[in-house]
Amino acid sequence: MKSKNTFIITIDGTSGSGKSTISRLLAKNLKFTLLDSGKLYRSAGYIVSKSSNLLDSSIDYKKLISQLSLKPNDTTNEYEVYFNNQSIDNYLYTEDVGKAASVVSKVAEVRRCMFELQHSCVRGDGLIANGRDMGSEVFPNAPLKIYIDADLEIRAKRRFNELLEKGENVTFANIYDSLKKRDDSDMNREISPLKIPNNGHILDTSQLKPDAIVDKILNLYTISTN
Ligand code: DC
Repeated sequence: MKSKNTFIITIDGTSGSGKSTISRLLAKNLKFTLLDSGKLYRSAGYIVSKSSNLLDSSIDYKKLISQLSLKPNDTTNEYEVYFNNQSIDNYLYTEDVGKAASVVSKVAEVRRCMFELQHSCVRGDGLIANGRDMGSEVFPNAPLKIYIDADLEIRAKRRFNELLEKGENVTFANIYDSLKKRDDSDMNREISPLKIPNNGHILDTSQLKPDAIVDKILNLYTISTN
């Protein structure tokens, strides 16, 4: 049921800053639903690249994206993405889909469709919305906006260790360069660049564990609801 009183917390920030982990912990703690907008752009990248060449100028984005729907997972409360009623979450976290997402996320028509999908998630007691432009463009009137960042070297080390643990063959220099490029592309693109939203609270995760950041956000939440 749609509610006017849904409390929205936006969490934007750089790649590898920990915003997904923090958003999940926060959603669990507050029993809010969770919208990971990066997943929506990955879904668009996935379905577009499956149906045509990404650079084809005649793609009907609106028609394709209208076949996406969202439903919160019963256990995690995180929105899952369905394409023609089939769950596609498991296909979205590959290097190729990441690249396709980065291409389609720069298309104005795609962002317009996503705006509507993102707003359809505003229901119930609360929503955690994470991404790049949640506080600046999509939910500019959210009562609590967070911007998460961490030192590039530290983000690269974390990502490098994660991938090593998964057994992937990577070098620190490559990871560092690719994060640097992503920062640059996220912050300097023409539409919806990553930026600190008006009235956003900046939290730096370089020296703090996710739990400590979540505590800080919970404090800000308590202050803003009193
Ligand atoms: O956070 P992520 O890696 O899952 O995001 C996938 C892509 O979507 C990435 O290229 C950035 C883009 N994105 C965006 O343009 N706007 C958002 N609100 C979230 C992600």
